[in-house]
Amino acid sequence: MTALLDIVDLAVSFPASEGPGMVRAADGVSLEVPPGTTVGLVGESGSGKTVTALSILRLLEPPAQVRGAVRFGGKNLLELPERELRAIRGNRIAMVFQDPMTSLNPVLTVGEQIAEVVRLHEKRPRRAAWARAVEMLETVGISSPAQRARAYPHELSGGMRQRVMIGMALACKPDLLIADEPTTALDVTVQAQILELLRRLRADMGMSVLLITHDLGVVAETCDLVNVMYAGRIVERAPVARIFATPRHPYTLGLLSSMPDFAGPRRLRAIPGAVPVPGKHPPGCRFADRCERVLDRCRAAEPALEPADGDRAHLARCCNLVPKEALSGPVRAGAPS
Ligand SMILES: Nc1ncnc2c1ncn2[C@@H]1O[C@H](COP(=O)(O)OP(=O)(O)OP(=O)(O)O)[C@@H](O)[C@H]1O
Ligand code: SF4
Ligand SMILES: [Mg+2]
Repeated sequence: MTALLDIVDLAVSFPASEGPGMVRAADGVSLEVPPGTTVGLVGESGSGKTVTALSILRLLEPPAQVRGAVRFGGKNLLELPERELRAIRGNRIAMVFQDPMTSLNPVLTVGEQIAEVVRLHEKRPRRAAWARAVEMLETVGISSPAQRARAYPHELSGGMRQRVMIGMALACKPDLLIADEPTTALDVTVQAQILELLRRLRADMGMSVLLITHDLGVVAETCDLVNVMYAGRIVERAPVARIFATPRHPYTLGLLSSMPDFAGPRRLRAIPGAVPVPGKHPPGCRFADRCERVLDRCRAAEPALEPADGDRAHLARCCNLVPKEALSGPVRAGAPS
């Protein structure tokens, strides 16, 4: 099946914080979003998830440099004239970010903001655009939508603002939604409601979602396919059930072991240390300094992202894969199967 979005060998560089030259915050990232699926991009803070997402719609400003290809609808978005890219942004590809307060305009009502998007993208007259805005607020589960449309962002709760952002993103029925930590700032109950909303809208609208999160719990509940990112690299990729049942990369196993729900009766362990900053990776495997399975050869050369034990649906970047039985034993009820 042809992918809706196909990122090929993406590299994002910034000027080094110390000394001359550039350092890479995303390095050789390739990932696909097939039609109608939710693809997760997961990793700790600083792994390069947001810079990857921002590159898709060329939202990074110089001096950032972006190389590689981002194929969408038969075109490379990185080479598209600005005018053509504007027709895709917010129309065929929409984005939702973590903090709706920074993305919403404080001096316009939320109804005006959604209506503005509709007018711009669908060229609808003012009254029809307002009606569509109210309809969108209803779609995203906001009660008394006609009344709430007249509210300013600060008059709404965090969860409601995030619903407004999703409504705004979906007002033009995009083919692809890129959601970067859409629920991180919300409490657990509201988070569950927003995830449920995303699942429902995805099914109703038949769109694809690239979901960025550091939270494997969110991945378990939402994604079909998972990409695990570490220090600018994709280190593991598999269908969601396999990531949870048989993680093959020690980093993925580390992320799972630090989740209270999945650790279950096993020992709960955080991965010691932190993600190395761009340009300060150890030689060879970038995870070597934190890895429990490290061997001498891990430091000699960086492993490629390859089929794990020949399994083409499950890729891992590791020369000493986690054995498949490592996670045998009880796993959380409700884990994806
Ligand atoms: N504009 C920038 N200039 C220089 N370095 C940057 C810039 N933006 C991001 N970085 C660096 O790139 C790396 C990856 O950042 P990114 O924001 O993509 O991480 P992330 O995976 O989204 O993390 P988080 O979970 O905290 O959002 C980090 O080390 C960050 O400091
Ligand atoms: S290549 Fe080596 S250091 Fe890197 S994750 Fe695999 S076992 Fe660990
Ligand atoms: Mg981020």
